[in-house]
Amino acid sequence: MARILKDYPGVSLKTEDLDGKIDFVRIFGRSGPVHIEIGAGKGTFLLNQAKAESSDNYLGIEWARKYYRHAVDRIGRWGLTNVRIIRTDAAVFIADFVPDNSVDCFHIYFPDPWPKKRHHKRRFLCPANLEHLIRCLKAAGQLRIATDHAEYFEQIRTVVAARSDILEEIDFLPTTGAETGEWVGTNFERKYLKDQRPIYTLAAKKK
Ligand SMILES: C[S@@+](CC[C@H](N)C(=O)[O-])C[C@H]1O[C@@H](n2cnc3c(N)ncnc32)[C@H](O)[C@@H]1O
Repeated sequence: MARILKDYPGVSLKTEDLDGKIDFVRIFGRSGPVHIEIGAGKGTFLLNQAKAESSDNYLGIEWARKYYRHAVDRIGRWGLTNVRIIRTDAAVFIADFVPDNSVDCFHIYFPDPWPKKRHHKRRFLCPANLEHLIRCLKAAGQLRIATDHAEYFEQIRTVVAARSDILEEIDFLPTTGAETGEWVGTNFERKYLKDQRPIYTLAAKKK
C-alpha cells in the first residue's frame, strides 16, 4: 500500500506567501550560501547534499505535484532545517522572485530533454533562462549541469559558451552528498548509471 505523504509547512514554500523578490535570510531563518536545484524530482540530491553541507541553504524547485509531495514528505521526515522546496515553474519563479546576485550555485541535473525537435523550445536551458541564472548568481557563483542527453548537452554548451564573457568553464567535481562513482546522486543519475548510459557534465563560474 502506498505510504501517506505528509505536508510539512516549514519545508514547502508557496509563491502566494512571497511578497516580491525572495529574502533568503528570512526564508531559511539564517544567512549562508544559497543553492537552488531546478527540477528537484523526489528530492534525493537535496536530501543528501543538505545533510552533507549543513551550513548551506538549499531551495528545490519542482513543477510536478507528485514529485514535489514526495520531496516535501522526505525532507520533513529527515528533519532537515536547511532545505525548502517550492512547486512552481522554475523559469517564471527565477525571473519574478530571485534577486540579482543572491545565489551561490544553481544545480540543474537531468533536465527534461524534450527530444522532439518541435519541443526543443520547452527546454529549460536556453539563452533567455541563462540570462536570469547569470543575473541571480553572485560573483564566483556556479552553474552545475548534468544530463545523459548528448544532443541537449551540445545545445547547453553552445548556450553557455555564448556567455564566455561572464561565465568561465571550470571542472565539474562530484557533489559531497553523492555516493562513490556518482557525480550528483540524483534518482535519474542512479537509473542511468545502472543502464551504463554516458553522463555529460558542465560547470561554470560567474566571473
Ligand atoms: C528528468 S527529471 C530529473 C529529476 C532529478 N533532477 C533527477 O535527476 O532525478 C526532470 C524534473 O524536472 C521537473 N521540471 C521540468 N521542467 C520544470 C520547470 N520548468 N520548473 C520546475 N521543475 C521542472 C520535472 O517535473 C522533473 O521532475
